[in-house]
Amino acid sequence: MVDSRVLIPRPETESVVDVCLAELDRLGGRDLPTTVVDLGTGSGAIALAVATERVRTTVWATDESEDALGVARANLAGVGRAAARVRMVAGDWYTALPTDLAGSVQVLVSNPPYVAETAELPAEVADWEPSGALRSGPDGLDDLRRIIAGALDGSKPTARWCARSHPSRPARSPSLRRAASAKCVSRSDLTGRSRALVARRPID
Ligand SMILES: C[S@@+](CC[C@H](N)C(=O)[O-])C[C@H]1O[C@@H](n2cnc3c(N)ncnc32)[C@H](O)[C@@H]1O
Repeated sequence: MVDSRVLIPRPETESVVDVCLAELDRLGGRDLPTTVVDLGTGSGAIALAVATERVRTTVWATDESEDALGVARANLAGVGRAAARVRMVAGDWYTALPTDLAGSVQVLVSNPPYVAETAELPAEVADWEPSGALRSGPDGLDDLRRIIAGALDGSKPTARWCARSHPSRPARSPSLRRAASAKCVSRSDLTGRSRALVARRPID
């Protein structure tokens, strides 16, 4: 269920879920209890798909928008038993998460806002989707930068992360790739365009 409180999930978002599940499986997510964080969950599309697909995984879904979390909670009610493994929390990126998650998260996934403040958007987007889900500073990368910086902070509860981006962003943002990790790779969307950025941190 979506309405004007949230971004309407795109087909490309499914690619991010696939990337997230593949990363989780590399860490034993099919067999072992694991924890995934979905930063900026919106309608809950990514978080609820992951919780449904991997029955041993606990998913923390965050959003700074209480309106968006209202939609996510409505959708949570529709996923059956998987709902028991999903926690929804409000707050600005990492501040939403309990500090005792530090060191216990296998995958961090996010589809953050990535449109530049002044970029023109088609009416079917601008008139129906919240600006806070779309726009992110002068070049559209403010939130991605904050998420990457937090992921690199050892005190934050993250191990790996996968972020969806504008198709041209991963290739055009070498500084983001460098900042994220030496082990940073792009993944393609359903149309073959580079769309998701995956960074892996060494596991101690
Ligand atoms: C592009 S939408 C993605 C929604 C959903 N994950 C999806 O893929 O359909 C970005 C989401 O990030 C949330 N958001 C924006 N700024 C945030 C912040 N500072 N902290 C947490 N969430 C934020 C927005 O409210 C929005 O729901």
